[in-house]
Order: sequence, then C-alpha cells, then structure tokens
Amino acid sequence: MKAAEAQTQVSDYWTRRAPAFDGVASHVAQASLWRDVLAAAFEAQEAKDVVDLGTGTGACALIAASLGHRVRACDGSEGMLAAARWAAEASGLDVTFEHALIEEVSFAPGSADIATLRNVLWTLPEPMAALRKAYLLLRAGGLVLVSDGLWSVAAQYRSTYPGALAASLPRHDGLTEDEARLMLSDAGFGLARSWQHLFPASPYPGDVPMFVLTASKG
Ligand SMILES: C[S@@+](CC[C@H](N)C(=O)[O-])C[C@H]1O[C@@H](n2cnc3c(N)ncnc32)[C@H](O)[C@@H]1O
Repeated sequence: MKAAEAQTQVSDYWTRRAPAFDGVASHVAQASLWRDVLAAAFEAQEAKDVVDLGTGTGACALIAASLGHRVRACDGSEGMLAAARWAAEASGLDVTFEHALIEEVSFAPGSADIATLRNVLWTLPEPMAALRKAYLLLRAGGLVLVSDGLWSVAAQYRSTYPGALAASLPRHDGLTEDEARLMLSDAGFGLARSWQHLFPASPYPGDVPMFVLTASKG
C-alpha cells in the first residue's frame, strides 16, 4: 500500500474512533501523572511555544496549555480535532488547532521551543518524516518530546487496523526506547534523555514497556 493511501486510512480510522477515544484511553485516567511528567520533561522555567503533532483529542496540548505554555496543535483526523476543540473549550484553555498532517502543517519553521509526539510514531506511514518536521519546526536549542510503547506485547493495545494497513506501517508493533533513540539521532537531534521513571508504574495497564524521551535540536 502506498504511503498516501495508508495515511488516508489512518486518518479515517481515527475519525471513526474519535467519539469514544477519551472514554477508553488511559491518558485520561492518568492525566495528572502525565501532567507531572510533561512538566518535568519540558524543563521550562517560563512560557514556551509548544506544538503538539498528532494531537488526537488534544490531551498533551491541553496539559501544555494548563502549564502556561502557548500551544498549537495539528492532527490529520477532523473527528479527533473536533473532540480536541471541544475539550479545549470545556476546560477554558487556549490552543490553536490545525487540521493538517504533521508533514504538511503550516506552522512556521523555527517557531517552536517544544514539539510533542505522543503515541503517534507507531501509526505513521513515514515516522522519520514526522521527526524531521519536528526538527524543522523547532528553534535552535528546542526540545522534541516523543512517547510511545511496545504495543505488540499486549492484546488490548494492538490496533484494529485492517491487515494490509497494519502491514504498511513500519512501526505498527510499537517502538522500544532504543529504537526511538536511534530515530531521534537519525533526525538530527542530540542525545536523548528519558523520563518514564517518573511514573510510579507504566501508565498503561498491562505494564506495556513505554518511554518518554526528550532530545534537543543542537
Ligand atoms: C493514538 S492517537 C494519539 C493522540 C494523542 N497524541 C494522544 O497522545 O492522545 C494517534 C493520532 O495521530 C493522528 N495522526 C496519524 N497520522 C498523522 C499524521 N501524519 N499527521 C497528523 N496526525 C496524524 C491520528 O489522527 C490520531 O489522532
């Protein structure tokens, strides 16, 4: 399957899942733990320009906004973004959302201090292109934060993508921390630092191996 067709199927899948996503996702149950971990990992003493790439229902974007940062976010699924817009309005938080693929988002190069991609790399037809885009969006010295997990180890986290779509996604089984470190390095980032030890246990029931990494644009 060509990358463009895979991407269309991924976006359509998430639009179909959007109405129920926040009801099942552990990020909602663990929101305050995520807030503590992101606050530490951002290492920000003042308000920063944050871009959340593949924001979904806006969980990380809203946490970043609640920490006082200026936040823009994008997603390829209009349905997920509708839920994100609703959540931002309901919580009174100011986030600028754009319906766009990460690779095509209109945010200006060099306009962000922090770029976040949580649970996005595994579902991308071209994950390296997204990391290179994050690099482009960041100012010198800016920080990328990636979080993902080895979803293949636990049945409840395996996607329900059709087989042909799953087979066309290079990271569909998920990622280990070491694999993510290599990808960050290949995208031009400096040595990555891990933060998942700040969780008392894996935030995903079933103890899925997961990581939270930050790395700087030199
Ligand atoms: C598992 S959800 C994660 C959402 C959110 N980051 C979170 O942590 O809750 C994956 C999201 O990535 C989005 N996505 C997939 N490919 C994308 C792309 N190329 N550009 C932008 N968003 C994309 C999907 O639409 C979906 O909302």
